[in-house]
Amino acid sequence: MLSTIKNYLARQARNPFGWFGRIVAPLVFNHENQHMEDFGLERMDPQKDDYILEIGFGHGRLLSKLVQQVTEGKVHGIDISEQMVKVTTNRNKDCVDNGKLALKQASIADIPYPEGKFDKVFTCNTIYFWPDPKENIKEVKRVLKPGGKLLCAFRDKDLMQSKSSAVTENREIFQNLYPPEEVKQLFQEAGFKKAQIHAKIANSETTFLAVGTR
Ligand SMILES: C[S@@+](CC[C@H](N)C(=O)[O-])C[C@H]1O[C@@H](n2cnc3c(N)ncnc32)[C@H](O)[C@@H]1O
Repeated sequence: MLSTIKNYLARQARNPFGWFGRIVAPLVFNHENQHMEDFGLERMDPQKDDYILEIGFGHGRLLSKLVQQVTEGKVHGIDISEQMVKVTTNRNKDCVDNGKLALKQASIADIPYPEGKFDKVFTCNTIYFWPDPKENIKEVKRVLKPGGKLLCAFRDKDLMQSKSSAVTENREIFQNLYPPEEVKQLFQEAGFKKAQIHAKIANSETTFLAVGTR
């Protein structure tokens, strides 16, 4: 019974669905992950004319902040979860209606945008679920402009494993747990010119931000 509940929670984290995905998942993401998104936002330093994509936006809290800062460019988001696309579209209805924000249901494996479109691509707490990390990082690189940046916020393998037994008991869902240097290596192997790892302590935990420059 307990293992069924943990499996349900793990599946919700990977691809939120149903009433739990609509109501509970956004509250959990907000509470747990806000400091990681803010870390990414600081390092991203959005410019008013930037074209920015967030992958796996979940509740869309960061997107709501980005649209305030990007007044001349445009903010885009993709998420594999139909439910998260619905929730975030409703939460940001005005920005979607006036064309400041575009949201689509899609996977990092096949980003529905042309080559060289974005100045910055951000993603937070999604790497664990990617189907093929090295290929997926290459796919992000494809949609970045030369000199553009991929910012990927994540908890490292040790922290993920100590945080919840739902993670350790569902490794087929939390497929990709890495120490920070392995994420840096993936960025280098995917062909980023520069790859750096930044760390931040907040809420008594150290989290990481990998930044790759195309
Ligand atoms: C744990 S939630 C994190 C949400 C938010 N970024 C945060 O940090 O609070 C993971 C999100 O990534 C999305 N996701 C998972 N796999 C994905 C994929 N292959 N492509 C795009 N989005 C994905 C899920 O639907 C979910 O919204």
